Amino acid sequence: MRDFLTRLPKVELHLHIEGTLEPELMFALAERNGVTLPYASVEEVHAAYDFSDLQSFLDLYYQGMSVLQTARDFHDLAMAYFRRAHAEGVVHVEMHFDPQAHLVRGVGLAVVMEGLSLACREAERELGLSTALIMAFLRDRDADEAMWVLEQASPYWEMLDAVGLDSAELGNPPEAFSEVFERARRLGIPRVAHAGEEGPPEYIRNALDRLDVCRIDHGVRCLEDPALVARLRDEQVVLTVCPLSNLRLRVVERLEEHPLPRMLAEGLNVTLNSDDPAYFGGGMLANFLACKRAFGWGKETFRRLAGNAIEAAFVDEARRQEWR
Ligand code: ADE
Ligand code: ZN
Repeated sequence: MRDFLTRLPKVELHLHIEGTLEPELMFALAERNGVTLPYASVEEVHAAYDFSDLQSFLDLYYQGMSVLQTARDFHDLAMAYFRRAHAEGVVHVEMHFDPQAHLVRGVGLAVVMEGLSLACREAERELGLSTALIMAFLRDRDADEAMWVLEQASPYWEMLDAVGLDSAELGNPPEAFSEVFERARRLGIPRVAHAGEEGPPEYIRNALDRLDVCRIDHGVRCLEDPALVARLRDEQVVLTVCPLSNLRLRVVERLEEHPLPRMLAEGLNVTLNSDDPAYFGGGMLANFLACKRAFGWGKETFRRLAGNAIEAAFVDEARRQEWR
């Protein structure tokens, strides 16, 4: 099964590139940039990654990215991830990035875009790996700032495959960002949003109705609302589910209790993704293997899940056909 799951062409729709920062690279970049980290060793970093909820993870996630300062750093971060993903049979990566998390540290959008776009071109050329960029707004910062970031990004609008909404969900409902997402819609930029990870089903509904998103990132709490489940099934809304993330952020206590099998049984359009692989115990293959262990799924189920992601990717039909 490991061979089968490695060879299966996997499309990753929900990944935060800053969440791919492995401790070894974190130390190397800290040294290169003269940044002091609050850890003495890689082991200490791993020991600190014992999260109780989303916020406890986000605190370390934002701290860790302090080592990312130059375009070269963003390039090296992304290339290191692309090489690992490629080795696991990932054929396409759609990555969120968080401009505001860098702007507040004095690292401008041009630096981020230069490094990431260089890595994307290199991945295509050297690995045959295709990529897409999702510029995410931080929902725990205000909507005016998000709008400002969207306007600042005008030189890069053409390069964006979508905009997204992430960071601390509880108490930060999607509708606060309706004007920002409306502006993106009028610019012709597709939209996705995290919803129903820790937040209630209502956040999923409002992301669909008020932000006009084409995908929901996570969405696992939809099962608490049967009418919402019926709608997600009828409209075949794509849900980018991240099992190991949900386990490590204690959305579920054991993977065996994860809602994925029920979501599939409900006929929902589910995909498997890694979210922040450096923090949650592995990338796409680790997530697929963990599902195999927890749910005992056969090849057909994995083909269906991988197929759902192929159909939902921001790519043209010719590309899709290569992976089917
Ligand atoms: N940013 C990075 N990972 C995230 C997650 N799992 N949820 C919300 N925001 C995030
Ligand atoms: Zn996420």
